[in-house]
Amino acid sequence: MSPFTSGFWNIWITALTLGGIVFCLFLLRMMSRRLPALDPNSATGHVWDGDLQELNHPLPRWWLIMFYLSIAFGLGYLSLFPGLGDWEGLLHWTSRGQYASEQAAAEATLNPVLQKYAAMDLLQVAQDPVAHEMGQRLFLNHCAQCHGSDGGGQRGFPNLRDQDWLYGGDPVVIEQTILNGRQGQMPAWGNVLGAQGVHEVVNYVRSLSGAAHDATLAAAGKTRFDMLCAACHGPEGKGNQAIGAPNLTDKTWLYGGSEQDITQTVTFGRHGQMPAHKERLGAGKVHLLAAYVYGLSH
Ligand code: HEC
Ligand code: HEC
Repeated sequence: MSPFTSGFWNIWITALTLGGIVFCLFLLRMMSRRLPALDPNSATGHVWDGDLQELNHPLPRWWLIMFYLSIAFGLGYLSLFPGLGDWEGLLHWTSRGQYASEQAAAEATLNPVLQKYAAMDLLQVAQDPVAHEMGQRLFLNHCAQCHGSDGGGQRGFPNLRDQDWLYGGDPVVIEQTILNGRQGQMPAWGNVLGAQGVHEVVNYVRSLSGAAHDATLAAAGKTRFDMLCAACHGPEGKGNQAIGAPNLTDKTWLYGGSEQDITQTVTFGRHGQMPAHKERLGAGKVHLLAAYVYGLSH
């Protein structure tokens, strides 16, 4: 596929590049044909710092030859590699092609190692120091931007070092999470509940983890919670790992536990997205990552 939007630019680039080279050749020819006499006294008349004179001498021959050689090199380079508009170059080199072949070479050395670990149980892999190091490097490259370089998480991105799991901390479940990704679906309740309803339910949610709350509001909130929220978060608010509904009775908050934060969550909903990594990394690397993540909390 041509990198240009129209054929004109192909010709434009080619003509400019070749024209520039031809112009240099012409200048060199012209300057070396009309050689000034090799007279030590032929000065240009320019004088600096009192006695520093500019003389009018021809370019030394070796210097001229270097110019011609660099032009020859330039033409050779442009015929072998892409540089003249759409011209692919005689070697058909592309940066993509080079990347692909380097990657293939790297994979040829890596694959046997990955296969060895793929055949091992996740708990065993988690004990292996080499696998741990590889997992850590993969984690820093692919996961740290969201979960933090130590896996400690941040607001909206779960901490992977603690024992509190949205979807479950079993190594096989962790592997599923990384392979296929997860989509948290906390609906928005602002329209259903109205401001007062949200206020009540927020007080009830805070009471679940023993945070400061208004008991009357919380009692009214409980009725609403049982009706609207218990289906996902459980009748006691302990959550449901099958759908990633967080436990609301602990003191760990994905989106913050202040009255304001919870009001925001309940009014507008939350939709945490854990991207799938099956295609991106392949099952072998995900296996190492799952063992590494499991190891963070064990
Ligand atoms: C673009 C940001 C992003 C990247 C990159 C990312 N994650 Fe996540 N991850 C999330 C979010 C957001 C969640 C929570 C999803 C939810 O709210 O339902 C999550 C959830 C998880 C969970 C489930 C935690 C639990 O409590 O059950 C695990 C395990 C996990 N990620 C591991 C990883 C690993 C390993 C990588 C690197 C391969 C990674 N993540 C890369 C954003 C990310
Ligand atoms: C359809 C299932 C579902 C229903 C119904 C539901 N939730 Fe959620 N809730 C979730 C999920 C899933 C999350 C996690 C969202 C994420 O990971 O991005 C969540 C997150 C939350 C959080 C954030 C917890 C944290 O750690 O920051 C609060 C608070 C919450 N829900 C309260 C409620 C309340 C109150 C109701 C009822 C008015 C309710 N939820 C109804 C599924 C649900």
